[in-house]
Amino acid sequence: MGIGSCSFVSSLPLALVLVSCLNGAIDAKAAPPEVSGCNIFQGSWVYNDSYRPPYDSATCPFLETEFDCQKNGRPDHPYLRYTWKPSACELLRFDGEDFARRMKGKKILFVGDSLSLNQWQSLTCMLHASFPSSNYTLNRAGDVSTFDIHDYGISVVLSRNAFLVDVVKEKIGRVLKLDSIVNGNAWKGYDMLIFNTWHWWLHTGRKQPWDYIQQGETIRKDMDRLVAFKEGLTTWSKWVDSNIDPATTTVIFQGISPTHYNGKEWNESSTTTCDGQTQPISGSKYPAGPPPPATVVNEVLGKMATEVTLLDITKLSQLRKDGHPSAFGSEGHQGNDCSHWCLAGVPDTWNQLLYTILVNRGRR
Ligand SMILES: *[C@@H]1O[C@H](CO)[C@@H](O)[C@H](O)[C@H]1NC(C)=O
Ligand SMILES: *[C@@H]1O[C@H](CO)[C@@H](O)[C@H](O)[C@H]1NC(C)=O
Ligand SMILES: *[C@@H]1O[C@H](CO)[C@@H](O)[C@H](O)[C@H]1NC(C)=O
Repeated sequence: MGIGSCSFVSSLPLALVLVSCLNGAIDAKAAPPEVSGCNIFQGSWVYNDSYRPPYDSATCPFLETEFDCQKNGRPDHPYLRYTWKPSACELLRFDGEDFARRMKGKKILFVGDSLSLNQWQSLTCMLHASFPSSNYTLNRAGDVSTFDIHDYGISVVLSRNAFLVDVVKEKIGRVLKLDSIVNGNAWKGYDMLIFNTWHWWLHTGRKQPWDYIQQGETIRKDMDRLVAFKEGLTTWSKWVDSNIDPATTTVIFQGISPTHYNGKEWNESSTTTCDGQTQPISGSKYPAGPPPPATVVNEVLGKMATEVTLLDITKLSQLRKDGHPSAFGSEGHQGNDCSHWCLAGVPDTWNQLLYTILVNRGRR
């Protein structure tokens, strides 16, 4: 296998691509098929009637009700029986023991909105299921939740943060500051950082947690949200470039998590949502293509000096119109949540891919 057979994780020259290519070129026999020349984010969902998720939601003691679709009465089960199959290889199974060995004594921090909460909850449930009798603690202090597995000295921390850049209370009101990231002081000293932001950039009205938006000296009442997102993400990227030593800290960006509120995106009517969906989209193509913020993420990460790995979950999650809580989330039958994901569910695959990236990096 030569360099020519490398496939690309995205259009970016990311670390993962290089690792895959080098393994493929130099050590094709020793490198298992999970990584060698394989884009793990390109593939399709496969139904397997005997597959079971890495944990049963009923036995994860700290799973938040909003994600616990089975407890909230979701009647169907097939959405728990799909596994992600990359086109060019088999995916590694999540091995909690191996994960714990690799991360022993280390601190992982998720920073972002409720999609980070979704992935953090999935990972903590996966680890809990791997070591059901081990001593763990879960502490919440303000916006920070810390899950510690004491026997391994592993900390998996979540810091809720919708924009990454700062929102500051000033005389005129709450100001979203696209160029300011004092928040970042709390992100130092971790072995692995996993960032995400997007969904809150779209909120208007009562759900919008700011009154003004500031860019340089200019303060506005509003602006194009995608442009604002790009500006904020660029500020974050500069923070990473000047504050993170990639030799000691692994930086991951959790890609844009798609919603399913408009069936037109997958060739159904515009009034169709995730509600009542019980099957993924078959094959590996999502009719609507990538959402605009995913393109922004690619652009911004592509300009960074620091090696940041994109956990490119966008397309594989776009295919899972059946994976959301819909009427089985926090608001129950009053609501229709097509933004978050049921747990067990799709974020378990995100973590399986995160694990694959870890294993891959360990091979260097
Ligand atoms: C289906 O899942 C079972 C249980 O996880 C596994 O042993 C089996 O290999 C899977 N079958 C296929 C075709 O992947
Ligand atoms: C669990 O770990 C904590 C922190 O190390 C310790 O204080 C506590 O005594 C341990 N509990 C058990 C049951 O081992
Ligand atoms: C969706 O519709 C387009 C245009 O009619 C068609 O080309 C495409 O194959 C359809 N995709 C799916 C998944 O049905």
